Amino acid sequence: MNERPLFSSIESIERDNSLREEKQFTRRAEAIDFIEWMPLSSRAEKIKSVLEQVDDQLFQKLWTTISAEGLTGATFKNLIKEYVGFTATDNDYQEEPGYDNLDIFINKLLFFETFPQPIKDLGPEMVYYQKTPARIVFDLVGSADFTREDIFVDIGCGMGQVAFLVHLLAGITTKGIEFEPAYCDYARQCAAKLHLSHLTFINVDARAADYSDGTIFFMYTPFMGKLLHEVLEALRRESLRRSIKIITYGPCTAEVARESWLKRLTPGENRLYTLTFFRSL
Ligand SMILES: C[S@@+](CC[C@H](N)C(=O)[O-])C[C@H]1O[C@@H](n2cnc3c(N)ncnc32)[C@H](O)[C@@H]1O
Repeated sequence: MNERPLFSSIESIERDNSLREEKQFTRRAEAIDFIEWMPLSSRAEKIKSVLEQVDDQLFQKLWTTISAEGLTGATFKNLIKEYVGFTATDNDYQEEPGYDNLDIFINKLLFFETFPQPIKDLGPEMVYYQKTPARIVFDLVGSADFTREDIFVDIGCGMGQVAFLVHLLAGITTKGIEFEPAYCDYARQCAAKLHLSHLTFINVDARAADYSDGTIFFMYTPFMGKLLHEVLEALRRESLRRSIKIITYGPCTAEVARESWLKRLTPGENRLYTLTFFRSL
């Protein structure tokens, strides 16, 4: 993550014509961030709106390309590299899930308008929505060894970012299971606007979900305790029919690691914000 203060004044931003080039997404994001921390002024607002218009044009163009051509696999990775300069090797361990310019880019690319407010109260042991940082999903796809037949399921998918990114980066079918109807509807609308098929969002409590076609299940700690164990039991039953993998992120890893029907594939101690891979025995 680049934390250098690149800009020292509004004037340096106004003068820097390269910020108006579409390719300079990362520097533009840093300039907009710098402006947002300044006291409000009409001069600051004016240059911010110029830079935001460049982004608007850029994303309109990218939405049209994705809708028309699909853009999965290497083509999608190259697109990200072109605008954000990100590669999976940039992924240093962080003690908490931190977000960076890759998340800003992915938010603008995949999600439209304002994020919805939840309309249902979470039950006991359920964890509120917080998204997996985009660079962690890149890391997941780099390490997961997917086959074309794999079906990836994000259990507690929120607004669907992990399912979107895994589909776009790996080209495989992905599903999201989510308790909150507003998040699920929103994820479906975003997928429809980009004409992405092979992406499904199901609004159901994970305890009642159908896991019969999934081969790789992802959990960024959607719930804990008894609820987590009920869902793990449903996955264990699936594993009697076919081999499955589970990938965890966050505090649920330690609980999943105690399941005797799973073999841990990621060596090392349980670090909260490291992806951990398991395979059914
Ligand atoms: C920590 S967020 C993870 C979001 C997403 N998987 C990601 O990584 O970006 C947990 C999500 O699980 C959902 N959730 C909590 N309890 C659930 C349940 N019983 N069934 C389905 N989803 C649930 C929450 O609404 C929330 O969106």
